Formats: sequence, C-alpha cells, structure tokens
Amino acid sequence: MLTVLKHPLITHKLAIMRDKDTCTKDFRQNLSEIGGLMAYEIARDLPMKDVVIETPVATCNTQMLAKDIVLVPILRAGLGMVDGIANIIPTVKIGHIGLYRDEETLQPHEYFCKLPHNIADSVVYVVDPMLATGGSASAAITMLKKRGVKKINLVCLVGVMEGVSKIEKDHPDVDIYLAALDEKLNEKGYIVPGLGDAGDRIFGTK
Ligand code: PRP
Ligand code: URA
Repeated sequence: MLTVLKHPLITHKLAIMRDKDTCTKDFRQNLSEIGGLMAYEIARDLPMKDVVIETPVATCNTQMLAKDIVLVPILRAGLGMVDGIANIIPTVKIGHIGLYRDEETLQPHEYFCKLPHNIADSVVYVVDPMLATGGSASAAITMLKKRGVKKINLVCLVGVMEGVSKIEKDHPDVDIYLAALDEKLNEKGYIVPGLGDAGDRIFGTK
C-alpha cells in the first residue's frame, strides 16, 4: 500500500532540498530532519506489547514496542536519512545494503550487505531518498526476504508511479511511504521535477 505523508514541515523542507541552489550542508540537514518526521508518522503502526512497570509511586500497566526495529539504508543516499530516524527511535539497529544503479541500463548492482544477525523477526524500514524505476529498492527488499524478514516498510522521500508499481508488483506485502509523488522519469531515469542526484548532493561528489 502507498501512503504519501502530507505534512507542512515535510513539504517545506523538501522544497528547500529540491532547490538546485541549496548547498550540501542544508541538503543533508533537511534530509535528516524529514527522515525523523517521516519516522514519527510511520511509527504509529508499530506493534505494542503490554508491560507492567513499577513507578516510584505505584504499579503501572502500560505498553512498549513489541519488536526490534531495523533501519536499512540503501547506500549511499539512504545514509542521509539514518541520523534523523535514529533520533526519533534511538533503539534502532542499522543494517547496510550497497547498491548502485548502472547509468546506462538503470539496473541495480549489489556491492555490500551487512545486516543485524537476528533480523528475521524485526520490523524493517528500508530507506532511500529516491524511488525512480524501483529497481534498487526492489533488489534490497529481495535481499532482506532471502534472510527471512517478514515485515518490511519502504521509506523514500520522492517517488514516481513507475517505481511504486514495480514494488507493488514485486513485493505486494511491502508498505510504501513517500513524502512526495512526482510526475515522471526523464530519459536518463531521473525523477521529474525531483531533486537531482541525491547521493551526489548529500556527499558533495559532483
Ligand atoms: C540512487 C538512489 C536510489 C536509486 C533509485 O542511487 O539513491 O538508490 O538511485 O533509482 P531506481 O529506483 O531507478 O533504482 P544511485 O544508484 O545513484 O547510488 P548512490 O546513492 O550511491 O548515488
Ligand atoms: N536517483 C537519484 O539520485 N535521483 C533521481 O532522480 C533518480 C534516481
């Protein structure tokens, strides 16, 4: 299922990121902050368990998170969302999946995978600012499913229907969260209007 998270702060910060004149520092800061805001919204659906706590005053029947939460950024650009989300959910464990998109074929290529040992029963958030053809996110989700992960959410900033449809087709059980659904892909596979090459803008590599 696709959810586009509409929130004035998210839209405002994303507008700053879209501006071609926004510097690396501000791009990174706004990406991290949007990551945190998205995590706050998405965390509403986390499973809870009943617990009994002894306060200094009395016994309290309340609830705590029932499952471990694992954040899996797709390298490189997904790294830009990690700090903001970890600020909101400090107990997250963090795995890394390295994929790059071939500039000609637009096909994803795996170069790194390091995940928490007991990830299978966790709630996993795959994070990447851009959902373009959907090839990278779909490949990352397949890698996680091969390790037995059952509950996967895909959290991206900007997506297009082409990418959304690929995930819905390849992984109908995955919930997709976006901050914005853009118009289309151009002939080079970039999102229009989008925000350009997220990895290069985060790390200042171009
Ligand atoms: C970008 C982006 C996604 C992917 C999206 O990464 O961060 O991972 O492209 O495109 P897709 O939906 O068509 O697969 P890129 O391959 O440029 O690597 P980088 O993050 O290292 O710059
Ligand atoms: N990857 C990016 O970084 N930007 C796009 O617009 C598409 C894929």
